[in-house]
Amino acid sequence: MARIKVRHLKAGYGKDIILKDVDVTVEEREIRVILGGSGCGKSTLLNNIIGLEQPLGGEINILGQNIDITSGNFSSELRKKTGVLFQSSALLTSMTVAENVGLPLQIHNPQIPAKVLEEIVKQKLSQVHMVHAFNKYPSELSGGMKKRAALARAMINDPSILFCDEPSAGLDPLSSKSLDELLLELRDKLGLSIVIVTHELDSIRAICDKLTFLADGYVLFDGSLEEALKSGPEEVKNFFARKTVEDKSKVETISFNLEG
Ligand SMILES: Nc1ncnc2c1ncn2[C@@H]1O[C@H](COP(=O)(O)OP(=O)(O)O)[C@@H](O)[C@H]1O
Ligand SMILES: [Mg+2]
Repeated sequence: MARIKVRHLKAGYGKDIILKDVDVTVEEREIRVILGGSGCGKSTLLNNIIGLEQPLGGEINILGQNIDITSGNFSSELRKKTGVLFQSSALLTSMTVAENVGLPLQIHNPQIPAKVLEEIVKQKLSQVHMVHAFNKYPSELSGGMKKRAALARAMINDPSILFCDEPSAGLDPLSSKSLDELLLELRDKLGLSIVIVTHELDSIRAICDKLTFLADGYVLFDGSLEEALKSGPEEVKNFFARKTVEDKSKVETISFNLEG
């Protein structure tokens, strides 16, 4: 059963219709990359699925449950099963890493004993290889470490779906690569489904199972990266070609790397 099924999603802001008719399906253990030009509605799509914005129409089914889009919000049970990693790590600067990570759990279970909370937080930090930062403050962390801490926080309720909006924005290539590896590891170990917005080619190559390419409010392409490069619409091919050309430090083409 698909973890996420979005059908005929219509979304926008006031009179601005950004997404006109969008279908997205995300299977168990699938990493689905959302692509498209700047301002095409990638974040809008994510925000409508996670309930931060209210859809104007269509159907959203998450983990077999239909979302009542007229009320717009998830049940809190459903919310717990999804984790979100925002672009800015959004850690609270006055709290330690451990306090930040434990916060969502504490909000859901105010009675939770400190020892239990500490154990869960340690386990989550160990999942992202960050136990050593337990008592550190966000200001003491590198960009990559902040992302890891935010990821641990997103994982606190053992979600089966993780949403990431440009998680590697602002990271150096090495940290970005290690974040990709971590996402793959979490998918493999925990069976997570991941919906991720990214335009970093290296990232896409490393993690993409399926991609949804948005243009003009519709899905222009839905399929694997290989299919996109081989037989995708011109606009999709150009997107990758342009990116490869822009990235002059890397002369290899994306199709070359797919085979390597
Ligand atoms: N909160 C908002 N209110 C009004 N317009 C918005 C809001 N968020 C985004 N938009 C507009 O919706 C369009 C799509 O934005 P967005 O989903 O952020 O694009 P992307 O993530 O693909 O770059 C843009 O034209 C943007 O200006
Ligand atoms: Mg965006």
